[in-house]
Amino acid sequence: MVKAILAISDNNVIGLNGSLPWHIKEDLQHFKKLTLGQHCICGYNTYLTLPALPNRYLWVVSRNLSPLSKFKVNTSIGTILQDVSSSIPLLIRSCAEFNREKQKRINTFLIGGASLLSSGWQYVDEIFLTRIHEEVQGDTFFEPDFSNFILTAEEKRVVFGKIMSKDSATPNLLGNQREIKITFQTYTRAKINDD
Ligand SMILES: NC(=O)c1ccc[n+]([C@@H]2O[C@H](COP(=O)([O-])OP(=O)(O)OC[C@H]3O[C@@H](n4cnc5c(N)ncnc54)[C@H](OP(=O)(O)O)[C@@H]3O)[C@@H](O)[C@H]2O)c1
Repeated sequence: MVKAILAISDNNVIGLNGSLPWHIKEDLQHFKKLTLGQHCICGYNTYLTLPALPNRYLWVVSRNLSPLSKFKVNTSIGTILQDVSSSIPLLIRSCAEFNREKQKRINTFLIGGASLLSSGWQYVDEIFLTRIHEEVQGDTFFEPDFSNFILTAEEKRVVFGKIMSKDSATPNLLGNQREIKITFQTYTRAKINDD
């Protein structure tokens, strides 16, 4: 089962200047808790600005970096397997193959950005969505299509965090924090994909 994880504002913003348009510790912790030890597939733009994701299997989709190339990156915190492919279904199959070879049951997450989610949405059976209840400035938008999904869990929170603006290019992440309303939601596809 392929899962998607994303955070989105009330006006469908997911990105600003190549990064997240907010700094919300609870959402980062939520992302970490769900994706630790799992396969994470991201688009090449997200990969370029992604902080290190230790203890996750990172797979990158790019049309320019094909054909399939496999490389290991040793970081101070651990080894990340990185695999690049020009095809999302091929990467999803590679994750399943990896699980079969290693006899593991590791989940596969699509972790963004907008371009990857748009073309990969059809493969997703479960969505972990964080709604950020703010009108946010951004340059990357995503409008999830929930027409085949059922809301199966929901948790509302009021947290402390920071919303970026277009002119706060190098933001002090911890300065000017304020209350932000967020909702963690889970959606499940009404009829699960066969794979
Ligand atoms: N709020 C969130 O939850 C969240 C999560 C992740 C990212 N983001 C934000 O989203 C923004 C980046 O999103 P983005 O839409 O610009 O970029 P992206 O989806 O991360 O990456 C786009 C690139 O990925 C490759 N790609 C995407 N779909 C493909 C497909 N079907 N087949 C082959 N290659 C494919 C292409 O790479 P090539 O050009 O190399 O071919 C494409 O240019 C950033 O601001 C990031 O911080 C937000």
